[in-house]
Amino acid sequence: MTRTMSVTTFDLVAMKSRGEKIVAITAYDALFASLVDAAGVDLILVGDSLASVLCGEETTLSATLEQMTYHGRIVVRGTSRAFVVVDMPFLSYQVSVTEAVRNAGNVLKQTGAGAVKLEGGFEVVDAVRAMVRAGIPVMGHLGFTPQAVHALGGHRIQGKDDEAASRLVEDAAALEEAGVFSIVLELMPTPVARRVTGAVSVPTVGIGAGPDCDGQVLVLHDMLGLNEGFSPRFLKTYAELGAAVRDAVGRYAGEVREGSYPAVEHGYER
Ligand code: KIV
Repeated sequence: MTRTMSVTTFDLVAMKSRGEKIVAITAYDALFASLVDAAGVDLILVGDSLASVLCGEETTLSATLEQMTYHGRIVVRGTSRAFVVVDMPFLSYQVSVTEAVRNAGNVLKQTGAGAVKLEGGFEVVDAVRAMVRAGIPVMGHLGFTPQAVHALGGHRIQGKDDEAASRLVEDAAALEEAGVFSIVLELMPTPVARRVTGAVSVPTVGIGAGPDCDGQVLVLHDMLGLNEGFSPRFLKTYAELGAAVRDAVGRYAGEVREGSYPAVEHGYER
């Protein structure tokens, strides 16, 4: 698989210094990847959120390396401009640094993506440093880290008190020092995300972290209104595709049942 991505990690870092916002979104397949790429996003994240969004799981914990590799590969196939980042799933980078580097390297080799993302602060800096040393670009992820949902006591806003906020700033600085090219900030108060963003020279990409991050990321299916049960305060839906799908399929079912589809013009005479 050969492919030239026009957006690079260098471009993303340079966007922060120019004050240009980074637009990121998730995709899990070639079709949606080609649509969001054509819309001009800078970064496509193959999130392990696919475990809940596509597979109906409660959490992201069940995502496997095989799933992430498969979805990473088909997203890369549908992308021609955006930078593609693939999430490292739970337990693929926490057990040992050696395993982490091997798994991340294999994800890049087998998908053609430009980078991997992993969750956590101080506890993952050794893995990040070793990946970066091996030539693997890494994106960090702080704040609410979905793979730690049980340890965090559910979907809670992080960094609410001074001590927790300072820990996030220290975690971000440690990730930057270990070599990440960017950090996702998920579910934290706007002033905390602003503080973290000001404390590092790599770009922050927020989700539920307010407007002062260097970029924003949303889960595509959520912002398209396909994931109708999910409506946190931070989410803005830009389309109502759930309703559109129900309506279209309902009309199709009605026409098949009453015999008006297929009509004469949909048939072949010879
Ligand atoms: O898995 C995912 O989609 C993510 C985003 C929510 C940032 O990590």
